[in-house]
Amino acid sequence: MQETLNGLEIVLAGGSGGLGSATARLLADEGARLVVSYHSNAARAAQLQDCATVLRADLTRAEDRTRLLNAAPNLYGLVVLSGDPSRVKDPLEFDTVARHAQEVNYLGPIQLAREAAARMRSAGTPGSIVLFSTMQAVSLFPGSTAYAAAKASLQHAARVLAKECRGKDNIRVNVIAPGATAAGMAEASIASGKYNHLIDQNLIPRFGRAIDIARAVRFFLQPDNYITGQVLSVDGGVTL
Ligand SMILES: NC(=O)c1ccc[n+]([C@@H]2O[C@H](COP(=O)([O-])OP(=O)(O)OC[C@H]3O[C@@H](n4cnc5c(N)ncnc54)[C@H](OP(=O)(O)O)[C@@H]3O)[C@@H](O)[C@H]2O)c1
Repeated sequence: MQETLNGLEIVLAGGSGGLGSATARLLADEGARLVVSYHSNAARAAQLQDCATVLRADLTRAEDRTRLLNAAPNLYGLVVLSGDPSRVKDPLEFDTVARHAQEVNYLGPIQLAREAAARMRSAGTPGSIVLFSTMQAVSLFPGSTAYAAAKASLQHAARVLAKECRGKDNIRVNVIAPGATAAGMAEASIASGKYNHLIDQNLIPRFGRAIDIARAVRFFLQPDNYITGQVLSVDGGVTL
């Protein structure tokens, strides 16, 4: 069985962000053929045009999910990095923010994953799907209901999908739960000192780097990997 990603077609949904762009570079260096999607920041996504086909896709829209997968007709891998921090600044906003969080952080990603799995199954491809959760869905962070509950739903649904795809289909479905990583949506919070207490209280040795996450993605994508249905915390130990 092939051991590297050379020549394999992989979709990185939301791959234009801080964690996604580091992942795209690592996979491209190994020869993977990449399709990367973004949602609203076209300029950031354009920086990956030298190593990937880049297109816009809103994962909350069924037609966008289908169009994204159509761009990879020989799909081997799907990594869903799309996400929104869904911060609730005013309690009166909770209903609106929480519903949007469900769409972006849970329903869109799991529906894309399910459609990808169906395509892999009908093509007879033993593929790999990686979804993105968060430390906030593993441990309890006050104030994180909208974001964390949606990500916890995603973790559970991913494991159900893994069970549906095990055996002779051999489509593996796993989840990565990053901790405070100095890239993408946590970059500004880390720069502001919001997470300094994690280091001051000796809970983590340092903040995560995007490459820590990219390496975990690559591990799950490796064609001869034997792991499915797992949630891997890449968080320096903060959720222990
Ligand atoms: N960075 C961290 O420390 C950290 C910690 C825990 C979990 N995570 C998770 O890791 C994943 C990647 O995060 P990141 O830090 O790389 O964040 P990021 O830089 O904000 O990237 C998020 C990506 O999602 C896309 N996106 C947003 N809304 C979307 C929608 N409706 N449909 C499709 N795509 C959409 C963004 O596109 P545009 O930029 O074009 O809008 C971007 O490509 C997320 O799922 C996040 O929850 C990150």
